[in-house]
Amino acid sequence: WLGIAAGGGPEKPGCASPPLSRRQRDLCEQKPELVPAIREGARLGLQECRSQFRHERWDCGPAAAAAPAAAAAAAAFGHQLSSGTKETAFIYAVTSAGLVHSVTRSCSAGNMTECSCDMNLRHGGSASEGWHWGGCSDDIHYGMSFSRRFLDVPVKNVTGKSGSGLVAMNLHNNEAGRQAVAKLMSVDCRCHGVSGSCAVKTCWKTMSSFEKIGRFLKDKYENSIQISDRLKKKLRRKEKSQRKIPIRKEDLLYVNKSPNYCVEDQKLGIPGTQGRECNRTSDGPDGCNLLCCGRGYNTHVVRHVERCECKFVWCCYVRCRRCETMTDVHTCK
Ligand SMILES: *[C@@H]1O[C@H](CO)[C@@H](O)[C@H](O)[C@H]1NC(C)=O
Ligand SMILES: *[C@@H]1O[C@H](CO)[C@@H](O)[C@H](O)[C@H]1NC(C)=O
Repeated sequence: WLGIAAGGGPEKPGCASPPLSRRQRDLCEQKPELVPAIREGARLGLQECRSQFRHERWDCGPAAAAAPAAAAAAAAFGHQLSSGTKETAFIYAVTSAGLVHSVTRSCSAGNMTECSCDMNLRHGGSASEGWHWGGCSDDIHYGMSFSRRFLDVPVKNVTGKSGSGLVAMNLHNNEAGRQAVAKLMSVDCRCHGVSGSCAVKTCWKTMSSFEKIGRFLKDKYENSIQISDRLKKKLRRKEKSQRKIPIRKEDLLYVNKSPNYCVEDQKLGIPGTQGRECNRTSDGPDGCNLLCCGRGYNTHVVRHVERCECKFVWCCYVRCRRCETMTDVHTCK
């Protein structure tokens, strides 16, 4: 379904794009007013995935510069989507969170007939503490339930079959993405009163920026939990000694260990890190040593020309000088 972020373009806001399943196409046709939000959700998720992983060996698919080519990303995701790794977990979570976020935005903007701002918070607050609810509070309930209906494949009687863990894993990670949006809801206030004295405040609930949600999910990815790929009545950790530790709704789960993403593997849709830019002085994942998997790197000098030392000249233009800088760029062998 990610393909619809690119599929068709604005002139064809249809539901016919092939990546959609039958059930998704039906939902989409029932609610054509949601199509822009569905697209926006897919775009948000992909963009955040690339941003969170830009310094890692797995960088969430093809070059960020080719941003509108979400179809290409969906193609690159092809194998990733079914491989059951922690990268799969992140993709599922971030795209399902993206859908909640964009649908909720659209509710708050008044673009939808079935949802709007959170009306329960229109009145009330605490007059004695000098604040009351006002404005438009984001109501994520509709977005959450739409995301469930749109993304969660109904599961029937898979318990015990090999591979059933994979289905359960994807569903769990979809929900983890939605839970992240819910958990990071916060309250914003605006002050009123004589010359900003803040004697009275109007407050409303708001979703966090999608970037913050992305960072939260990245952290969950780094602490993700391996589960057994055979489903007994419920999800179980793979590590027997840790089975007593509960799995929380917001944890990301995976079934299979990840490849190291070092070398190209076309069959698995892994581009490898050859040619990737690395940082010679960093000890992190973007450092040449880790990113290039010990293969070493090439260094080129790149010339940058930019406007600099700009001054405002009365009145009314800006005069700048041209500055040239040379920087070393390192790329993996
Ligand atoms: C709401 O609809 C207007 C007009 O169709 C559109 O320009 C705007 O982007 C929409 N906003 C959201 C958040 O969906
Ligand atoms: C490279 O890594 C160092 C240390 O983490 C950092 O200070 C520097 O800004 C990085 N350089 C680039 C070009 O990202």
